Amino acid sequence: MTEQDVKKGLAGVYADYTAISKVNPETNSLLYCGYPVHELAEHCSFEEVAMLLWNGELPTEEELTEFQESSKARRGLDEDLIKVIEALPKDCHPMDVLRTAVSFLGANDPEKFTPNTDHIREIAHDLLAKLPTIVALDIRRRRGEGYIEPDADRGYSENFLWMVFGDGEGSPATIPSDIEAFEKSMILYAEHSFNASTFAARVITSTQSDAWSAIAGAIGALKGPLHGGANEFVMHNFVEVGEPEKTEEWTLNKLKNKELVMGFGHRVYKKGDSRVPTMEKAFKKLASEHPEKDAQKWVEMYDIMAKTMYENTSINIMPNLDFPAGPSYYILGFEIPFFTPIFVMSRITGWTAHIIEQYENNSIIRPLAAYNGPAERHVPGA
Ligand code: COA
Repeated sequence: MTEQDVKKGLAGVYADYTAISKVNPETNSLLYCGYPVHELAEHCSFEEVAMLLWNGELPTEEELTEFQESSKARRGLDEDLIKVIEALPKDCHPMDVLRTAVSFLGANDPEKFTPNTDHIREIAHDLLAKLPTIVALDIRRRRGEGYIEPDADRGYSENFLWMVFGDGEGSPATIPSDIEAFEKSMILYAEHSFNASTFAARVITSTQSDAWSAIAGAIGALKGPLHGGANEFVMHNFVEVGEPEKTEEWTLNKLKNKELVMGFGHRVYKKGDSRVPTMEKAFKKLASEHPEKDAQKWVEMYDIMAKTMYENTSINIMPNLDFPAGPSYYILGFEIPFFTPIFVMSRITGWTAHIIEQYENNSIIRPLAAYNGPAERHVPGA
């Protein structure tokens, strides 16, 4: 056993095959079932992309309409779940609320273990429809505002924005370009191969546990600042820096102190994240459309931070998707701790596609560990 045999962080290890997405760091491309993600973001809805990830093909118009009708009917929450959410502390992390809500729904599923893939598909569809309602309820209860029931006359993103912000003047639910920017972020966040949370979901599935447990585990993994939680820290940093004039110095100080700058770097992409150009464009458009929110200042800070990181790191570290997504959600009006729950609303599609794939072709995931503890010894008297 040599040090080279140990792949810390499983870096560079191929743990299985997948037909769901392909991340190609050489060409900076990301394909969902063969389709470039930027094409999907330009031409498809989030629900079409969800169906693509689950079925391997884009839906026909008829299939999509049927799916959307069924989704709308699943959006509402039972009284019991609302009570559970309302009983949780208002200062806990919103990801804890999501994890608890998923566990609660799982505990009410009469199937204790996954009987077949149709069951996973049902859970996937249910959560795609219900997670926005759960997140919106949590946002509003913390603000001291009442629950807004889902509206079956609105599409996926518009309905979510409506449940969070209502439809008063300036609400993003009333601004088509805001809805479009949000929908694009959902498509870009949907799937990314064997990232940490998806891999966590696959590990849990590989033990023949149930899909609810796999999703709850994935939510826990996504919460971490090195993974999904980064989009929150990106915005905390922007707010902390406050002014474009201070951005370069702040970034250089971080680098000098060997601290991580959130929203930069990636385990797989080393020459730039393929999703960034599409989200960056959406972010900059959003900012230009909201001068009343002084949003242009975030764009200036964004450009300065990206340039400073690139020019002052030996490996030219570039932004990942969280870097443009964080300030986009801020401009839309979301409170920062909800950025990662929004990520969950999207990634539920990728997670469940992987749970299905793992379930259909399973081998328990159980790597080896190179032991480096004490040599064999014996209990006194043994
Ligand atoms: N800020 C500052 N330095 C960074 C950095 C960042 N965001 N990302 C990587 N580096 C540094 C590392 O510290 C390392 O320095 P060293 O060689 O002096 O030890 C070097 O760049 C190479 O890092 P690398 O091996 O490429 O990173 P990784 O693959 O182990 O980790 C991440 C990848 C994503 C975990 C890491 O880049 C990171 O923590 N980023 C910030 C969190 C984030 O945005 N996460 C969302 C990911 S989508």
